[in-house]
Amino acid sequence: MFKVMAIVSLFLISFATLLYAAEGDDIQKQIDAIKGVIPKFAIPMREVGDRFQNMYFAAKGGNWGLAAYMSKYMNGAMKPASLTKPTGYEAWKSFYNDTFAAVNKAIAAQDFKAFEKEYNAVIPKCNECHVGMGYGFIKLIKQKAASDAGIDYSVKSKATDVPK
Ligand code: HEC
Repeated sequence: MFKVMAIVSLFLISFATLLYAAEGDDIQKQIDAIKGVIPKFAIPMREVGDRFQNMYFAAKGGNWGLAAYMSKYMNGAMKPASLTKPTGYEAWKSFYNDTFAAVNKAIAAQDFKAFEKEYNAVIPKCNECHVGMGYGFIKLIKQKAASDAGIDYSVKSKATDVPK
């Protein structure tokens, strides 16, 4: 009797372990599947491109809040890459925190002359990263008009107007 019970419980324990392992495996598969559909670089970079172009027209129009907003979410747009392309994201992060800092500084100072100078200087830096990552055929140019025509770029605002 004892022997039978021991065998049965042993069987139950191993079955439970197996089930647990299978479930763990399943969860990992589901995580991988979710990660697989989160954008890497191409999709957020489209948003970076549009926000970058819009930022110029916002600054030009004296809509400094909109310029600061565009910069903030240009950076925010890249966040999914921190999970899906971590090494590329690190390169983006140092670009935004270091190279792009001069543009942000000019926005904070609401100084269009400084902004225009730094903005123009950053374009080749965007392109340098494209070349470096094997996408030299994606060469940015400054647009003659903003990417989004549906925003009033001339609303007067302060860079500090963006809600935290
Ligand atoms: C860390 C490197 C890096 C930096 C910095 C960078 N890019 Fe990119 N960008 C890429 C890569 C890589 C791609 C190609 C997408 C991919 O990997 O599939 C790309 C693609 C693009 C595209 C094309 C997106 C599309 O599919 O239509 C645009 C537009 C763009 N970047 C704009 C910019 C702008 C504007 C800046 C500067 C403010 C910038 N990028 C800075 C790496 C970078």
